[in-house]
Amino acid sequence: MGRLEDKVAIVTGGARNIGAVYAKALAAEGARVVIADVLDGSSAARAIEGTGGQAVSVEVDVSREDDTLRMAQTAMDAFGRIDILVNNAAIYLSINRRPFYEISEEEWDRVTAVNIKGVFLCAKAVFPHMRDRNGGKIVNISSNTVMAGTPNFLHYIASKSALVGMTRSMARELGAHGINVNAIAPGLVEHEGQTVPGEISASRVSARSIQRRQVPEDLTGALLYLASPDSDFVTGLTLVVDGGNVLH
Ligand SMILES: NC(=O)c1ccc[n+]([C@@H]2O[C@H](COP(=O)([O-])OP(=O)(O)OC[C@H]3O[C@@H](n4cnc5c(N)ncnc54)[C@H](O)[C@@H]3O)[C@@H](O)[C@H]2O)c1
Repeated sequence: MGRLEDKVAIVTGGARNIGAVYAKALAAEGARVVIADVLDGSSAARAIEGTGGQAVSVEVDVSREDDTLRMAQTAMDAFGRIDILVNNAAIYLSINRRPFYEISEEEWDRVTAVNIKGVFLCAKAVFPHMRDRNGGKIVNISSNTVMAGTPNFLHYIASKSALVGMTRSMARELGAHGINVNAIAPGLVEHEGQTVPGEISASRVSARSIQRRQVPEDLTGALLYLASPDSDFVTGLTLVVDGGNVLH
């Protein structure tokens, strides 16, 4: 019996890379999963079904409210409830890192629309369904770059910093409804979508207390903790999972 038997989880940005690993891990604990991504998430959903789990996918731009409402409705239509929201969708891999004074206003607006407003809209869309059951888990995906002050993508840093404050405020607003709101701040994760040049990987490894490369599976223990009853009395937390790099 998994820890998330009977639960329904929405994973935004779950079509590929780390989000797909989150979706798989939730399903392995018994959750029925909705993969919500601007990309086609059907192959990630099929992969879960191939291992005996239940999953559906829905194409959603998290920066659009009509899309996020449709996302929540898809979950309700498919599975009848929403217990867990993982706010993982973000503009990340497509960012070309450059000094802040070279970032265009348009790029700033798009990154913050997806990475900040998207989290607000997704939480707003699922909230009535969580409130109706007097319970829920919202997990926002921030980044350890916030604590490290990593240079050359200020719009991204601004967006992931916002999630730390939003997590705290939402935790206070939603506690009375039985909803926990926490965040995970991963370090630099190496996966098939992000191959890190050898010298950068080596310098990150040497900065960590636990000196090895970080992979998506390093994050699933923290996610399952924050998505399950194990964390019922934990809220407003940003949990850094980076092998002991920034030691926040
Ligand atoms: N990879 C890392 O080193 C790292 C480190 C810290 C935090 N993170 C965070 O982890 C998460 C996953 O990162 P990843 O490495 O898998 O990168 P990724 O770019 O593959 O993941 C982002 C996902 O969000 C989706 N997405 C983008 N815009 C969207 C939109 N408007 N609506 C819906 N979906 C949208 C993408 O299609 C993709 O599936 C992101 O929030 C990222 O900021 C990653």
